[in-house]
Amino acid sequence: MKDRSNFSNKLGFVLAAAGSAVGLGNIWRFPYLAAKYGGGTFLLIYLILAVTFGFTLMIAEIALGRKTGISAIGAFKSLDRRFGFLGFLASLVPVIIFPYYSVIGGWVIKYFAVFVSGGVQDAAGDTYFTDFISGTMQPIGWFLLFLGLTAIVVLCGVEKGIEKVSKVMMPILVVLTIIIAVYGLTLEGAMEGLVYYIQPHMADVSAKTILAAMGQLFYSMSLAMGIMITYGSYMKKENHLESSVRQIELFDTGIAFLAGLMIIPAVFAFSGGDRSALSAGPGLMFMTLPKVFASMKFGGVIGTIFFVLVFFAALTSAISLMETIVSVFMDKFGWTRRFTGILVAILAAVMGIPSSLGFGSLSFISWMGMSVLDIMDFVSNSVLMPIVAFFTCVFVGFIIKPKAIADEVKITDGKFKAEKMFNVVIKWVAPIFLVLILTSSIASALGIFTL
Ligand code: PFF
Repeated sequence: MKDRSNFSNKLGFVLAAAGSAVGLGNIWRFPYLAAKYGGGTFLLIYLILAVTFGFTLMIAEIALGRKTGISAIGAFKSLDRRFGFLGFLASLVPVIIFPYYSVIGGWVIKYFAVFVSGGVQDAAGDTYFTDFISGTMQPIGWFLLFLGLTAIVVLCGVEKGIEKVSKVMMPILVVLTIIIAVYGLTLEGAMEGLVYYIQPHMADVSAKTILAAMGQLFYSMSLAMGIMITYGSYMKKENHLESSVRQIELFDTGIAFLAGLMIIPAVFAFSGGDRSALSAGPGLMFMTLPKVFASMKFGGVIGTIFFVLVFFAALTSAISLMETIVSVFMDKFGWTRRFTGILVAILAAVMGIPSSLGFGSLSFISWMGMSVLDIMDFVSNSVLMPIVAFFTCVFVGFIIKPKAIADEVKITDGKFKAEKMFNVVIKWVAPIFLVLILTSSIASALGIFTL
């Protein structure tokens, strides 16, 4: 991506940004959070946040990138020297996410391997997943394989090829997800799960649920970590920014919704009404889907195809995470690409191993009931990203002023339909809300008060 006008047309830009946005966050993370945090309640909060906060932040980030023509680390600094720290903070997020993202990527390859070798019935066993992740060599081995594959792609510069493949894979993944979801809904007990997934209960709304939904929103849309700033820096001025953002959001949210539809009703169908299954956390997809496949005709083949597709979605996202880290290090220290790539891979391997072992030999490490992987996830999504988002809002709202962004959005045809909402959200609603939600979650973590 040396040439800054890389995306020749709008569709190219939307697909590339969506390719980075759509990943494990949609398929693996969204369903387990929705299951855990009240189903319909979580879904509703998520949707409201997506069209307000998500929209506003994504507009701001892409416009910042296009306006400055540089990536996150430099973009803030180039507009105001005092905000150089924000670029640094934003770039720290991928450094934390990438290692544990690769751990989950490893789980996906493991399940692919099991399915392709005819192990659908084994994988559907009640203790299969926990037996796997509580081991030592297996989780580490699959994690290192995923990490190694990502590093090879980044080091050999074949991202373009992978992106081409994944453009074909993504629509197939959508269709397959719909098929699996429809099948899942025909299972006995699934309807109760569907109701749980789409019916909100206002009594369940809490600061914790809102924070979880917000962290998920940032994570899923690759916000508050500098990524969209970088993407924006490659976007052409004649492409309409506002409608591109709407499309990326719709795509990303649509896939997350479908993934929830595929998993949550199935959890109800297979748990025999035992609601504790809903709080399974990171393992939910891996525990539920094999049971769905095992009960299906041709489930072995369908499961194999499914895990290949998820692998590609995860790989494209992991590539974009690793690329970001590599380019930040290269810009900062002036190292060569090769050296930086190898260093980042080694760093990620070292950082990822504790997350990988956190369900087995390192399970004694726990904080507020969270494993190492959950802790990493919490620090990046529920602490760092809200902080980055807060300062981004302050930066746009009070330093460069919302008009600077609006002018950038309007470059194409003079229009910015949601400008009023954008101004209010970026200046007042989002920053105030972010402070409230962060203080309340920190206070409740420290046992001071709970909202
Ligand atoms: N948005 C991706 C997902 O939902 O899986 C995660 C991600 C990918 C974040 C790439 C950041 C990134 F650069």
